[in-house]
Amino acid sequence: MFLLLGGLAFAGAALAAPLPEQAAMLGLADASRCLTCHDVNDTVRGPAWRDVARRYRGKPEMEEALVKKVYEGGGGAWGDDTMSANKRVGIENIKVLVRWILTLP
Ligand code: HEC
Repeated sequence: MFLLLGGLAFAGAALAAPLPEQAAMLGLADASRCLTCHDVNDTVRGPAWRDVARRYRGKPEMEEALVKKVYEGGGGAWGDDTMSANKRVGIENIKVLVRWILTLP
């Protein structure tokens, strides 16, 4: 996954110079299948990631709990639907993704 992330970061830098991180993170989210249920701007099955960032802005202590929730799956925060576990993605990749999601403007 990290090799993949490195490759995507490089591709992102070449294709979208101003936002290499964004391109790399979207690539990782896509490879991790998050994008089957999420979008940065729009609510899909799960909440828009900008809405997630807005809700937890200024609450860095939430990061760990969110990482755990994405890894193990869970519900109750946004509606009746639940997020299935994403263990195959790996906790390190999930940390990278959640950290990025929380920085979205
Ligand atoms: C099967 C669909 C699905 C997939 C795949 C999925 N999610 Fe979710 N996600 C959801 C749903 C539904 C919720 C809302 C859960 C709730 O209401 O607590 C959610 C909530 C979240 C939240 C907010 C949690 C909270 O308590 O506020 C984050 C962050 C998140 N997802 C990140 C991810 C990441 C990163 C991935 C990929 C590794 C991912 N999701 C994959 C459906 C999904």
